[in-house]
Amino acid sequence: MSSQSAPYAATLPRSSSLDQVAGLEPAMAGVENAAVFEETRRMVDGSAHVPLLPAYLQETYWWAYLHPNAVWFFERQWLVNLILWGNFAELRDAALAEMGESIDGTILQVACVYGNFTERLVQRLTPTGRLDVVDVAPVQLENLKAKLNGAPRIGVHHQDSTDLRFADASYDCVVVFFLLHEQPEAARIQTIAQALRVVKPGGKVIFVDYHRPDGVNPFRYVMIPILKSLEPFAMDLWNKDIADWLPASVSPVSIDKQTFFGGLYQKVVITR
Ligand SMILES: C[S@@+](CC[C@H](N)C(=O)[O-])C[C@H]1O[C@@H](n2cnc3c(N)ncnc32)[C@H](O)[C@@H]1O
Repeated sequence: MSSQSAPYAATLPRSSSLDQVAGLEPAMAGVENAAVFEETRRMVDGSAHVPLLPAYLQETYWWAYLHPNAVWFFERQWLVNLILWGNFAELRDAALAEMGESIDGTILQVACVYGNFTERLVQRLTPTGRLDVVDVAPVQLENLKAKLNGAPRIGVHHQDSTDLRFADASYDCVVVFFLLHEQPEAARIQTIAQALRVVKPGGKVIFVDYHRPDGVNPFRYVMIPILKSLEPFAMDLWNKDIADWLPASVSPVSIDKQTFFGGLYQKVVITR
């Protein structure tokens, strides 16, 4: 299990908006969540751990996730759907379908998502199911808590995907929705390794993200300048398979890839 700090973590000064929320502790909705979180902290290092904002988030994605107006601007269902060329619902539902119509057991969502992804996941939770969500940006966790409006059996945790504080094999399923393309390769490799570490043997890790479009897909030519200017790490997902970044020590039971919208998007399900 890795518990070392992310080597690329930022040392840039925080903006004043972040200072306002920098003291945020991992928050929980529901009494049982507190118990689970305390147990988690004891298992890893026995102390509170507050992650730094990664450099790529501050330098490349500040406008999308950290700026004081980012949540106000982007937290609109129609806008997140537009950004995905109308494919948000299909991609969301493809990820949820992997968990089933009713979701039991323990689910980890790695990083918040604008739009109703998490709300739809929560609607499927059975009375014995529970969801933990991590994000490295406190403002995103605050936004998620507002969206979930006190729904039970949900833990909201201030953590870095590259250095999860949960025990090995502690989740039945882990979902990573459009995070990998935002990360530099070193962070992406660690995120994938951590997701595989915390999922139980036989459990699924579900990735949904960008992918290289088919040669005849006109969006291929539209997306190249968009991604190169706004999302500089995203082209990695055009050039390599997610399976290429798996740790050598992991031998999954299966790796299933499905593409969408002429290949521009992919869902990869790794069964541990
Ligand atoms: C999962 S992606 C989702 C992007 C997607 N386009 C959407 O609709 O929101 C964005 C989230 O990832 C979070 N994030 C980025 N790097 C992270 C990291 N290393 N650990 C945890 N969360 C991270 C950001 O703070 C942001 O809330």
